[in-house]
Amino acid sequence: MEKKVTKAIFPVAGLGTRFLPATKSVPKEIMTLVDRPLIQYAIDEARAAGIEEFIFVTARGKSALEDYFDHSPELERKLKDGGKDELLAELHHTYMDSGQIAYIRQHQALGLGHAVWCARRLVGDEPFAVILPDDVIAADTPCLQQMVEAFAETGGSVVAAMEVAPEKTSSYGILDVEDTAGSTLRVRGMVEKPKAGTAPSNLAVIGRYILSPRVMTQLNEKKEGAGGEIQLTDAIAREIDDGQKVHGFRFNGQRFDCGSKAGFLQATVAFGMARPDLRDELMDFMSDVISIQAAAE
Ligand code: G1P
Repeated sequence: MEKKVTKAIFPVAGLGTRFLPATKSVPKEIMTLVDRPLIQYAIDEARAAGIEEFIFVTARGKSALEDYFDHSPELERKLKDGGKDELLAELHHTYMDSGQIAYIRQHQALGLGHAVWCARRLVGDEPFAVILPDDVIAADTPCLQQMVEAFAETGGSVVAAMEVAPEKTSSYGILDVEDTAGSTLRVRGMVEKPKAGTAPSNLAVIGRYILSPRVMTQLNEKKEGAGGEIQLTDAIAREIDDGQKVHGFRFNGQRFDCGSKAGFLQATVAFGMARPDLRDELMDFMSDVISIQAAAE
């Protein structure tokens, strides 16, 4: 029986330069998708998967992110007095019990692998999840929950995977798999951001991982990889070379790359359309925009 996955690491130390000037004073994880910050989607997904301890790897300038999870008695009282029960419930959603959330600083921007390694002492000797909040996944069963279920069957490590266009493989960690049939695929190797024409497949790693604590030992070696950074992909690949079991998991759901402007806009439209209170107005607006655009062409 595999140990239960109860801890998740959220690497949130990135500068978010792609969203400057917005990210000059607002951490990108606080940027809003419809009415909640990106980080809230990641937390909700983790909770649904049974995560009980939330470890944030942060950096200078990210204090707004820490404040976001604080309790706010004044606001709470106002909403209570005003009988705003729904908003109150939303507010409670952002709360964490004391001791349930931890913040670790990544003092140098040395890459995703290094960010995960910064949390090694909090993770200890248990399998743990990693969630990259930039990757937002709309799914009936939240993606990490699907992965926890797959992990209970396979053990080892599990990484979320999705097919991408061949010309996009150089932006991702790419899997070399034994067999491409089914949703759980045994991984033979992994390459971070392969050069054009060298990718072993077009199956990309998406920002959800369930990892064996052994990966921390690999990360201890602090080997530089693609872009001169310490890559998580490389540490997992070395685990495979050492004979450890790693599976790619093709999740059900739609992934949005909220680390890019186009992806963020697409997510805003898709999540807006999924909301009954916004759908009709948004649909009308979009068809107007499209007809005006078409008339102008
Ligand atoms: C990171 C990982 C990469 C993965 C990607 C998913 O890259 O290093 O392996 O495919 O997230 O979004 P980044 O997007 O931070 O460059």
